[in-house]
Amino acid sequence: MIVKLLLDKKREGGELAPEEIRALIDAYTRGDVPDYQMAAFAMAVCCRGMTAAETHALTDAMQHSGECLKWQGPSADKHSTGGIGDKLSLIIQPLAASCGISVPSLAGRGLGLTGGTVDKLESIPGYNACLSLDDFRRVVSECGVSIAAQTAEIAPADKKLYALRDVTGTVPSIPLIVGSILSKKLAEGAGTLVFDVKCGAGAFMKTRAEACTLARALVDGARAAGRRAAALVTAMDEPLGWTVGNALEVEEAIGVLRGDNGQDARCRICGQDARHPDHVVDEQNARHSEDVVELSGELATRMVALEKGVALEEARAMCRENLANGAAWERFAEMVKLHGGDLEAFASRPRGEAHVVAASRAGYVARVDAEGIAKAAFELGAGRAKSDDTIDFAAGVTLAVAHGDRVEVGQPLAWLYAPTRPERLADAARLVQGSIAITSEQPAAKQLILEVVE
Ligand code: URA
Repeated sequence: MIVKLLLDKKREGGELAPEEIRALIDAYTRGDVPDYQMAAFAMAVCCRGMTAAETHALTDAMQHSGECLKWQGPSADKHSTGGIGDKLSLIIQPLAASCGISVPSLAGRGLGLTGGTVDKLESIPGYNACLSLDDFRRVVSECGVSIAAQTAEIAPADKKLYALRDVTGTVPSIPLIVGSILSKKLAEGAGTLVFDVKCGAGAFMKTRAEACTLARALVDGARAAGRRAAALVTAMDEPLGWTVGNALEVEEAIGVLRGDNGQDARCRICGQDARHPDHVVDEQNARHSEDVVELSGELATRMVALEKGVALEEARAMCRENLANGAAWERFAEMVKLHGGDLEAFASRPRGEAHVVAASRAGYVARVDAEGIAKAAFELGAGRAKSDDTIDFAAGVTLAVAHGDRVEVGQPLAWLYAPTRPERLADAARLVQGSIAITSEQPAAKQLILEVVE
C-alpha cells in the first residue's frame, strides 16, 4: 500500500476499496503510518465524505483493530452522543438487564462540557470502572450488566484516530463519527444497539437534520454489521432532569430507579436531600424527573423489543413494571457492589453547602439553556478541560425549576455546589441566571423525542 496514492484518490473524491481502508487502518494502528498522513486522510474524508461501503469498511477495520467480545443469549447496549445532565445509562442499562438481557456497556469519561458515565459512577466511593475484560465479562455474567471504562484492547485504532481528529479539526464528519462510535460498540459484542442522538444547543449535533443524518448512518452501519439497531433523535436544548454534576446525577438516577424521586424532594431553602430532618419541604416542591423517566423507558423499550423480538407495547410494559417493582434498582445495586462501590457511603457523603440562585423577576421559565448550565457546572469543578484534570464529584447544579414553571421573585432557580472551588460560585451563579429565561407568557410545552429512526 502506498499511502500517498490513497490520499490522492480520496482527495479527488474517489472511492477507496475495502482492502485499501483496512490496510491503512491496520498500518496506522501498528504505527507504520505517521500521524501527518492519517490527519491528511481524516481531512480528505471530512471534505469528500465516504460512501456507505467505505464507512462500513472503516468501521469494520477499526472494530477489528482490537478484541471483539461475544455474549451468549440476548444482549444489547445503548449509546448516547452526549448531553447535559444525561444520566440515562445509569437507569437504562440495569433496566434492560432486569428484563433478561445482558448489557455489556463500555463508557467514557467526560471532557469539556459533556459529562461521562464513568465519572458519574466513580462518584460512588469504591466504584472501580477500570475492569480487565475478564472481570467485565464476569460482572456481566453475574448480574447481567456492567458499566466499565473503555479498555485499551477495544478498538485501539479509534483511540489513536480520535485523539488525532480532536487536534486536527476533523471531528465533524459523519463517516468518521460513525466509524468511531460503531467500532467501539460493535466490538462490545451486543446483539442490539440503540442510539440516543442528541440534537440542539447542548449537543454535538446542533440541527435536527444533522442529528437525523447521524442517527440514520448509525442504524444503517450497525445493521450492515449484522446487529439489530434503532435510534431516537432527542432534544438537548435544556438539561435532562434536575441535576448536572457527577454525584448529583447519580443521586437523581438512584431516585428514578428506586421510584422515590419526587417524594425524596429537595429542601426548599438549601436544596439538600429532604430526608434530612431539619429541611423544609412541601409537596409542591416534590419534583419527578419526568423527562429522564420517559426517555430511559423509551430507549430501554427499544433494546428489549429488538433483542427479545417482542412488540414495543409488550417491551414498554415490561420496562415500566421493572422500574416500578424495584427489579432495575436491584440490578443497579448489584452492579455497583460487583464493581466495589459502596452505596451507603455514597448516600452519607458530605454534600457541601448549597448556594441558592434566586429569580430576579416573576414569570414563566421559557428556557433553561443546557450549554449555560453545563458551563456553570464546569466552572464549579464538575468537568475537566484536559483528559488528565481532576474533577470534583460533588460539584454541580441542581435546578429548582423547569421549562414552563411559574416563578416568583426570590424563588430558588437552582442550587450550586462547589466544595472545592467556592471562589467560582459568583461566576457560576451569573451563568445560571443568564441561562434561565423568564418571560411573562407561558411557553409551549417542549418535545423530547423528535424522531424515531428504525
Ligand atoms: N464520539 C465518538 O466516540 N467519536 C466521535 O467521532 C464523536 C463522538
